[in-house]
Amino acid sequence: NWNMKNFINDQVEIIRKQVGDKKVLLALSGGVDSSVVAALLIKAIGNQLTCVHVNHGLMRKGESENVVEVFKNQLHANLVYVDASERFLNKLAGVDDPEQKRKIIGSEFIRVFEEEARKLDGIEFLAQGTIYPDIIESGTKTAKMVKSHHNVGGLPDDLQFELVEPLYQLFKDEVRACGVELGLPYEMVYRQPFPGPGLGVRCLGAITKERLEAVRESDAILREEFAKAGLDKKVWQYFTIVPDFKSVGVKNNARSFDYPVIIRAVNTVDAMSATIEQIDWAILTKITDRILAEVDNVNRVCYDLSPKPCATIEWE
Ligand code: XMP
Repeated sequence: NWNMKNFINDQVEIIRKQVGDKKVLLALSGGVDSSVVAALLIKAIGNQLTCVHVNHGLMRKGESENVVEVFKNQLHANLVYVDASERFLNKLAGVDDPEQKRKIIGSEFIRVFEEEARKLDGIEFLAQGTIYPDIIESGTKTAKMVKSHHNVGGLPDDLQFELVEPLYQLFKDEVRACGVELGLPYEMVYRQPFPGPGLGVRCLGAITKERLEAVRESDAILREEFAKAGLDKKVWQYFTIVPDFKSVGVKNNARSFDYPVIIRAVNTVDAMSATIEQIDWAILTKITDRILAEVDNVNRVCYDLSPKPCATIEWE
């Protein structure tokens, strides 16, 4: 009979048989799929697994720290943490085309991962969080983009590994159940979708540190207030956007000229279309007040009412 406990026990056996006493490498983004693969491999082969977490500087507030806390401190994984924030920001300086930004982030991610992989000796396997929808070519952007970003397909020929993909039969809800069974924290297993290019596609146009901080801080406030109101369990995806233009405002009796923050909260089944969540006015007001009081370089907050189509979920 099929249940999650049996699935995990079976996979532990299969992984041990496939890997033997060899070493396995994993790009651990902190997303649901890579986190669950990591937990499963730690159970199966412990320190034969090396996880590499690349912080591209476009993570949400506290996210990379949380990966280190859970995997290094709690699960005692062999974790290489790479702070590549400056490197990514330098590469992205002045680049305002959304597709160009995505390409740079994707290829730079692979370069950083490649450099780390070359520093490690005797690795023969590469683990990946491939899940069933990735394989059946569901045609959704999420699956495809997550694949191109995370499956490290762009590694050079002299750096090829045998793949370990223990989740390839599972749907997303089963992956989450597997994560819960393996003891991963609820917030990690049930976290909302987050694009590979991260806050980079929410800091519109050419990324600056100033506006990136405004996205990160306003997103943290939004997530905190949504969690308090129980909306984190009700809304599929919610985040903030900071565009690359300013508007006039007034602060402490003086004219201000600062950026707006746009709030987006959508529901969807498959990310192909999406509807707008009708957020309680009092909650929106509270979030607005907090963003205006706590986030630097911001003087205006807007709520995006556009469904998909005509809009997309992300702004870039
Ligand atoms: P859009 O903006 O196309 O987004 O309506 C649909 C879903 O896909 C996510 N998304 C991405 N995920 N890399 C990813 O891994 C990307 O480049 C990317 N762009 C959009 C988006 O967050 C939403 O869940």
